[in-house]
Amino acid sequence: MKELKICELIELEEAVPRRVEVEGENLALVLVDETVYAIEDTCSHEDVALSEGEVDIDECALECWKHGSLFSLKTGEALSLPATKSVKTYEIRVTGEDVVLVIE
Ligand code: FES
Repeated sequence: MKELKICELIELEEAVPRRVEVEGENLALVLVDETVYAIEDTCSHEDVALSEGEVDIDECALECWKHGSLFSLKTGEALSLPATKSVKTYEIRVTGEDVVLVIE
């Protein structure tokens, strides 16, 4: 297991997605209710960045800006059409002020 610091907690604003690149992969980081989530930053419907979309706090989901599919920040599941496939999720740990990606 490997842990990689990807940013500091202070750099994240509640419900404002932030794109980070880690070892060649783009992740969308989102802080919601004191929990940091990370999902793959590419919509499963077309090749656009989910981090440019808006956060739905009630659903704990990120909305694709292009056609409006919602992706669960907890599971990566596509919650609404037109996307039907999930996106990847990543394990995040907050250690002190550091936001750390856990790689199995
Ligand atoms: S590109 Fe994301 S829902 Fe179509």
